[in-house]
Amino acid sequence: MHFHKYEKIWLTFGIVSLVLFLSIVGFTAFGSGHGHHQPTGGMDQIDPEMVDQTPPFNEPGVKQIDEDTYEVVMVAQAFGYEPQNVQVPAGKKVTFKVTSTDVVHSFSIVSTNVNMMVVPGHVSTKEYTFDKPGNYLVICNEYCGTGHHFMKTEIEVTE
Ligand code: CUA
Repeated sequence: MHFHKYEKIWLTFGIVSLVLFLSIVGFTAFGSGHGHHQPTGGMDQIDPEMVDQTPPFNEPGVKQIDEDTYEVVMVAQAFGYEPQNVQVPAGKKVTFKVTSTDVVHSFSIVSTNVNMMVVPGHVSTKEYTFDKPGNYLVICNEYCGTGHHFMKTEIEVTE
């Protein structure tokens, strides 16, 4: 008789555990599935054919945000970067926002850690503070066609 009682207890315990386990699994799956559908940031997406009409790319170039912050908006396309003659001051935080209107390029500032892949349909963002004034070479590190090796520009960092 005692055995029968214990069996019932174990059976109940087993069923309760199973239900708990399934609901945890279900909840986790639902939770992560839901997470995957969240966009990683509203600013990331852009229509590559509407770049020149989509803020901030409708006004490319250098913009002073506040005393210590600048924004540089640039477009990569075969085989160069627009606009040219970008000038930013040393010692200020610069947020680069770059997109492509055609194929995959990169926006890589030599001897800095700015090395972004630039993909059509996406806005690549990177913050950087230039410590020293000078001319900084920007090159494309992604093979993008016959003009790839000539795809470069310069950023002038002033005092
Ligand atoms: Cu653009 Cu390589």
